[in-house]
Amino acid sequence: MATLHPNLVVLKNKSLRNLFTKIRDQETNVRDFEFYSCRLMTVLAEETVAELDNAIEQVTVHTPCAAFQGEVVDVDKICAVSIVRAGDSLLGCVRAILPGVSVGKILIQRDERTVEKEAKLYYCKLPPKISEKVVILCDPMLATGGSAKKAIESLVDVGVKPSNIIFSNVVCCPEGLKNLAAAYPEVKIVTAAVDECLNEDKYIVPGLGDYGDRFFNTV
Ligand code: URA
Repeated sequence: MATLHPNLVVLKNKSLRNLFTKIRDQETNVRDFEFYSCRLMTVLAEETVAELDNAIEQVTVHTPCAAFQGEVVDVDKICAVSIVRAGDSLLGCVRAILPGVSVGKILIQRDERTVEKEAKLYYCKLPPKISEKVVILCDPMLATGGSAKKAIESLVDVGVKPSNIIFSNVVCCPEGLKNLAAAYPEVKIVTAAVDECLNEDKYIVPGLGDYGDRFFNTV
């Protein structure tokens, strides 16, 4: 995996197997897709937060029996940013485990008029002190990497260090990982699955189809 991206964390939790089987199955209805993908994304969100070294502090607490050396997450040091629209589903799970976290939104769409289908930025609303925070960038599917690169570019433009960005992702593929590795090797990627490849329509194989359409019932 290090050959695909130097900063890649692939989740190995056994609990993900059942959840992935449910959401990959094209027979899974929209309600179940939302239910199982939210369970999966909650695991992903927890594991992503656990990777935010710059927002984690060492503390001593006291159990009724003894002192305990532990760690806590400082929500004020984190900003969660979604790539609209599919990213909003994962953003919801991140917000559920980090109440009060500051939020940004980025809308990027492929320019279908051009042959290259280049990713174009349409909207970007980020909190003012984002450059002082670690950023969880949320997008469930990393396909070509075009949207993710554009979103990271928008964050870097406002002063966020690439090493302070964690890209949180449900399914990725070698093409997208290599693309991000070439442009932003310092951005850590936390993913729940690395699939085989992209097909000619730029869908991930085996993947699960169009995540946004299945999650938001716009099939
Ligand atoms: N976006 C999706 O929703 N699915 C893919 O397979 C690729 C990009």
